[in-house]
Amino acid sequence: MQDKDTWSGRFTEPVAELVKRYTASVGFDYKLAMHDIQGSRAHAQMLEACGIISAQDLADIRRGLLEIEAEILDGKFIWSLDLEDVHLNIEKRLTVLVGDAGKRLHTGRSRNDQVATDVRLYLRSAIDDLVLLIRSLQKALLDLAEGHTQTIMPGFTHLQVAQPVSFAHHLMAYYEMLKRDAERLSDTRRRVNRLPLGAAALAGTSYPINREMVAALLHFDGVCENSLDAVSDRDFAIEFTACAALIMTHLSRFSEELILWMSPRFGFIDIADRFCTGSSIMPQKKNPDVPELVRGKTGRVNGHLIALLTLMKGQPLAYNKDNQEDKEPLFDTVETLTQTLRIYADMIGGIKVKPEAMKRAALQGYATATDLADYLVKKGLPFRDAHEAVALAVRYAEKRGCDLVDIALDELQQFQPLISADVYQVLSLEGSLASRNHIGGTAPLQVQAAIARARAAI
Ligand code: ARG
Repeated sequence: MQDKDTWSGRFTEPVAELVKRYTASVGFDYKLAMHDIQGSRAHAQMLEACGIISAQDLADIRRGLLEIEAEILDGKFIWSLDLEDVHLNIEKRLTVLVGDAGKRLHTGRSRNDQVATDVRLYLRSAIDDLVLLIRSLQKALLDLAEGHTQTIMPGFTHLQVAQPVSFAHHLMAYYEMLKRDAERLSDTRRRVNRLPLGAAALAGTSYPINREMVAALLHFDGVCENSLDAVSDRDFAIEFTACAALIMTHLSRFSEELILWMSPRFGFIDIADRFCTGSSIMPQKKNPDVPELVRGKTGRVNGHLIALLTLMKGQPLAYNKDNQEDKEPLFDTVETLTQTLRIYADMIGGIKVKPEAMKRAALQGYATATDLADYLVKKGLPFRDAHEAVALAVRYAEKRGCDLVDIALDELQQFQPLISADVYQVLSLEGSLASRNHIGGTAPLQVQAAIARARAAI
């Protein structure tokens, strides 16, 4: 198989060993093999339909590709570094298996449009899988949220107790983020799903090809309409990685919360043991390793985005070998995101909620102070004056080490005479939640409706 280099006709000395290793990509782009075969099948079928190769050639190519496919699936295919990349490895093997027909496969094609096609096919299928994984995670969130529309926890701003919210409402915030994440992926897919083949090296080809036919065979929505652009831009991969970085960023925020909630200081939740590890020295430890790693791996995916952007920024048209460097960041992004989404859905399913601890925390920090101010406004006080009166009441409660609800009516009235006995309803956590009764609010009825809408949508 290592007879002579593909382009040896042009060269007077063989490529140095070190250079071969430096320039080879087969060590990672072998992952494109099935997509490469898929692309080659469509290309060959088109060549035959357009009278560029014979029916016999097509039959031979098909037979050879089938055999190669089996060899790869069986782990029997021998990948050779000397053959640089996945494309040349498969083409050389095809020629060994079927002779001249194998040498005709590359007619009207270049590795430049071939690799761009392979990466798009790979990414399209990755996106389809990822959208399903996002759906599963969303479903896990809904399942958990369902039982907690009345579970009250403190909502935070600046990580200070702000206003009470339900645990379900908090979870549904992540549902919304994931909804947009899935939308973004589906939108990116439209731009991924265009066929580069036919662009050949950069300018198109002189054979009477039919690009639309290849596009239809490979289920692309259409062809890339400029050959230089088709072989050179990787914006679709950058865009995908940006989507992935956002998903990871969302999950990283969620992870940070899970870690906090699981710490004894909060004690809001417990994460199932199978997602945690112990310490080699401290026997009491149960560490939230999975969310911590998700937070850590977000840095890695963000890094891939920067790598791809940087890879592109200095490249003149059209194809440059730089583009070979697109694969590892892209593959790793897909793999990291796939594993993360999968483990996350599972982990959410294994969360044990501790409603008493959440409620206890909500009762500290004067979470219903805004409700008291709103109460005064509804009795006719301007909001700024209400804000001031409540601030004084909070200061008083803080000094006494009690909650607003523990202050007697006549004492409360010293801060604002408009306060009457009905204030205690307003100061309760349940009353606070129930009063935020509009779409997007934390009232149990609204969150139930949001969960129902979400269920209908996925
Ligand atoms: N392995 C190459 C890549 O990943 C394939 C295209 C090579 N084309 C070339 N003109 N050297 O981009």
